[in-house]
Amino acid sequence: MTMNIIGPDYLVFGVDDLEACTQYLLDYGLSAVGDGRFEALDGTGVHLRHRDDPSLPVAMGTATQLRETVYGVGDEDSLRLIEREMSQDRPVTRGEDGILRCIDDMGFALGFRISQRRDVLLPAERSNAPGDANRAVNLLGVTEDMAALPRSLSHVVYFVPDSAKAEAFYARLGFVCTDRFIGVGPFMRPAGTQDHHTLFLIQTPPFMKGVEHFTFHMGGPTEVMTAGTRLVEKGYQSFWGPGRHKLGSNWFWYFNSPLGCHVEYDADMDLHDDSWVARVAAPGADNSQYFLLTHREKWAPGGAEPKAE
Ligand SMILES: [Fe+2]
Repeated sequence: MTMNIIGPDYLVFGVDDLEACTQYLLDYGLSAVGDGRFEALDGTGVHLRHRDDPSLPVAMGTATQLRETVYGVGDEDSLRLIEREMSQDRPVTRGEDGILRCIDDMGFALGFRISQRRDVLLPAERSNAPGDANRAVNLLGVTEDMAALPRSLSHVVYFVPDSAKAEAFYARLGFVCTDRFIGVGPFMRPAGTQDHHTLFLIQTPPFMKGVEHFTFHMGGPTEVMTAGTRLVEKGYQSFWGPGRHKLGSNWFWYFNSPLGCHVEYDADMDLHDDSWVARVAAPGADNSQYFLLTHREKWAPGGAEPKAE
């Protein structure tokens, strides 16, 4: 039997500025569904509370505003397996909300529930090429009013003080390393998904412990560019991207956010199964992306000299 963990169903944040974070998540493209909950198209999402909300799990004692990562699992058997495994060496509770809860070896609060994500009944972004036309005749590849909405919570990245210890913990939950940055940490895939990673661990000094970024899958690179451009036009600050990662092949664009971490859009991540052999790469710019672009104001030849941002 395997622990059929699919990926994070939602992340819980206890934030300083509830109003700014609410506006940010709406501008990012999530839908408010009440009670501080924000959803992507498949129902995965982010829950916002004020940092002093007594219903939140205890803060980790660093600057991070992430308070809980709740994983969606495929079946009750998996929940029982997780409960049995975790009960060996730590308290495990089942809340009134049915969520199984414990704390990982780094101090991150975790929850597990039968995933409530819905199927996304939308095609991936289609592209046409000589020899392989994928988009229907008369259907436009990009429009001013196209939706470009986050589809599903993709992955979360933790700063951890001991990435080997953290990796060993997640291995107990059935996560496997798909690729690794030497001296940094592993990309990890749980058993219930083929996504290259739903978790990436970055070794840092203990005072930095917390979330580095989270991201949602988009329908393709055009949606990443479209949604990212709209965020820039609303005044938010691009942090890194757009570009395309090497490990995972995912398109990326990262933004600063009032949630105290970066927030990313991604698309077209590699899928892997158990036959995949993890690569090992030196960290640094060359291995972090195949290419990196930078946003600039809209411009056309003949106009004033373009301004880089
Ligand atoms: Fe990422």
